[in-house]
Amino acid sequence: MKKFLVLLTGVGATFALLPMAWAAPGDGLAGTSHDFSGISNPATGLCTFCHTPHNAMSQELLWNHTETVTTFSWVDPATTGGTTYPSFDGDTYKGSTSKCLSCHDGSVAIGDIGWWNGGVPGAPILNSFVTGGYQVGAGGDMTGNHPVTMPFPLGGAANTYNGVTNGASSLISGWQADPEALGIRLFTDDGSGNITAGSTAGQTGIECTSCHDVHNGPNTQDVFFLLGMLGGNTTDYICVKCHDK
Ligand code: HEC
Ligand code: HEC
Ligand code: HEC
Ligand code: HEC
Repeated sequence: MKKFLVLLTGVGATFALLPMAWAAPGDGLAGTSHDFSGISNPATGLCTFCHTPHNAMSQELLWNHTETVTTFSWVDPATTGGTTYPSFDGDTYKGSTSKCLSCHDGSVAIGDIGWWNGGVPGAPILNSFVTGGYQVGAGGDMTGNHPVTMPFPLGGAANTYNGVTNGASSLISGWQADPEALGIRLFTDDGSGNITAGSTAGQTGIECTSCHDVHNGPNTQDVFFLLGMLGGNTTDYICVKCHDK
């Protein structure tokens, strides 16, 4: 099935229409809205828009997509449960949230990549932007979005992550003891801003990828790459995988 309809005009401009995704939750990347294969000639591969084997922009994740230079913060409110909302830079923060926002804040073209087919593309391979309800943190304002780059009160104790420590009222109750056992991904900040996958007592936090699997892998349970169910009231419902309410 041809996923992208690419029209070449006489002046060489390329228009690509992003079609409806056809992959089911958990079925892998192909056919999702993160499948950017077949855009250019020669055809880009499934990983090209995000990773490259050589000449990556950062060793971390072998990242191939131009990062946003925006600084992100929550304007209103400044705290939740006594925890101060963090801020983070799109191009220096090492958690994977900055990688998502390199496309999703809408400031960098979807196909603005660093390396492809033995060279630096002269222009974005796909020169359109994430828009509308799919934009997150436009202009750096994260207000209205669930916290990310934020400590998780693992073990009912204050954790420190991205320079922020859980406040007293966030510790009272209401958290799952082990979200990872429920399919949620947690991350560790070593205290110097180096972020790795998996939890560590006292140093655990959450990223966009705590709730979403960018690759639509086997732990994806529902639409929007969700690691839990979008609706319902069962223990698989995404919100109660961390919040024990
Ligand atoms: C739309 C962007 C995007 C595409 C396309 C993409 N990735 Fe990723 N990948 C990410 C992000 C963001 C992370 C870090 C978040 C995480 O760990 O889940 C990541 C993490 C990884 C990791 C390290 C963590 C892990 O899950 O093992 C590997 C390996 C990886 N990707 C391989 C691939 C391969 C191979 C492809 C193509 C078949 C691919 N990715 C396509 C964005 C992408
Ligand atoms: C290379 C650019 C790029 C990167 C990097 C990227 N996305 Fe996306 N993402 C897109 C585009 C384009 C869409 C489709 C937007 C639309 O339909 O308007 C999308 C759609 C989505 C959707 C909706 C999926 C659906 O089926 O409707 C989610 C959720 C999402 N992205 C989350 C993430 C997360 C989380 C990360 C980081 C781990 C990430 N994205 C990284 C470009 C990207
Ligand atoms: C606490 C869990 C959680 C975190 C963290 C999270 N999301 Fe989501 N996301 C969701 C849920 C749930 C939905 C479905 C919302 C709906 O449409 O009802 C969603 C939907 C989306 C969509 C589709 C558009 C929409 O609003 O429905 C995009 C794009 C997206 N998320 C990107 C991101 C990015 C980028 C990050 C990190 C900055 C992120 N998400 C962090 C839970 C989360
Ligand atoms: C990956 C774990 C995780 C998931 C899943 C999750 N949350 Fe959270 N949530 C957190 C953390 C961590 C905080 C901030 C803790 C703190 O204040 O120290 C938080 C804070 C909140 C807050 C307080 C915000 C404020 O500003 O006062 C609300 C409300 C909330 N979450 C709702 C939700 C909803 C609704 C969902 C489902 C869409 C959800 N959460 C899914 C981890 C999660």
